[in-house]
Amino acid sequence: MSADFPLSRTAHPAPEAERIQILSAPVFGRYFTDHMAFASWTPESGWHDRGIGPLKPFTFHPGTAVLHYAQEIFEGLKAYRHADDSVWLFRPEANARRFARSARRLALPELPAEDFLASVEGLIRADEPWVPGPHGEQSLYLRPFMFASDPFLGLRPARQVEYSVIATPTGSYYSSGITLWVSDQYTRAARGGTGAAKCGANYAAGLAAQTEAQERGCDQVLYLDSAGEGKLEESGTMNLCLVTSDGRLVTPALGTILEGVTRDSVLTLATDFGLVPEERAVTLDELRSRAEEGTVTEVFAVGTAVVVTPVVAFKGHGYEFVIGNGTPGKQTMALREHVLDIQHGRAEDTHGWMRRVI
Ligand SMILES: Cc1ncc(COP(=O)(O)O)c(C=O)c1O
Repeated sequence: MSADFPLSRTAHPAPEAERIQILSAPVFGRYFTDHMAFASWTPESGWHDRGIGPLKPFTFHPGTAVLHYAQEIFEGLKAYRHADDSVWLFRPEANARRFARSARRLALPELPAEDFLASVEGLIRADEPWVPGPHGEQSLYLRPFMFASDPFLGLRPARQVEYSVIATPTGSYYSSGITLWVSDQYTRAARGGTGAAKCGANYAAGLAAQTEAQERGCDQVLYLDSAGEGKLEESGTMNLCLVTSDGRLVTPALGTILEGVTRDSVLTLATDFGLVPEERAVTLDELRSRAEEGTVTEVFAVGTAVVVTPVVAFKGHGYEFVIGNGTPGKQTMALREHVLDIQHGRAEDTHGWMRRVI
């Protein structure tokens, strides 16, 4: 497939006053832009019928495979408007690579990276007025996704696939410190499973755990490994990082967790902040005892949505503990500001992470 997504513009964009109203206080995932990108795949034709057109519903036969067997993957990335009105993506090539890895794991066809980038960038150009202004932490969230669309109930890899990108303007997710519920009832992923893939089924399976966390007065769930070894994995939509008193930035090693783009970025930036990056297994026992003796000084969660968010406390059945004095740590806040400054064009992009779209 050539990396070309021709645009047919909608005749009915949202009225300007409505768009301005939405952009004045964006609510993630509630309002969508005027257009969507799309492409279809079959084994005979490969990727075809690609383009960018008016946002519109899909119509499905009730036997459509994804509705029954959840053969679906997605990505999430943001476009940022800089002070000079240019619009940029943060490391979209990494999302394209992860999308291809997820496709392989879910037996879906790989979308070439150039097509992933062309569809995302084409949608941003079509919906440029929807990219929020350069002030604050607002951005346009892009959601590429792909699913099995064959109207066929037998269990086999899809022979008809739809790819699409939609977009929703979003504001800041900052919280002055979140508390994580350590689930001992639910796990997210097992060795050999789909933990490292970004597939919708992983998130459906996490909803009961997320509900349990909220019932316990926590903001999100923290999963432990499924083998019962008490190793920290990740949170519902975020990776976890620890700062130690001997200057290390420690994060659980890859395997069954999602390889976060923000996680990788923070590991790269660690040395600029005088921290030694370390990817390894960390047990809950280690976290708890080192938090209590004060040698784990800060904990934070990282992800496209939350950027870098302080984790100030953990709760589980019969225990709870805080990190430091229970307020956001200095290194956490400095890292957060730096990542945001790169994304919003206020700090030099020394790693070549930003890709200009407009
Ligand atoms: C399960 C999970 N872990 C971690 C992350 C963070 O990944 P990224 O930094 O690429 O957004 C996400 C969000 O995509 C996620 O859904």
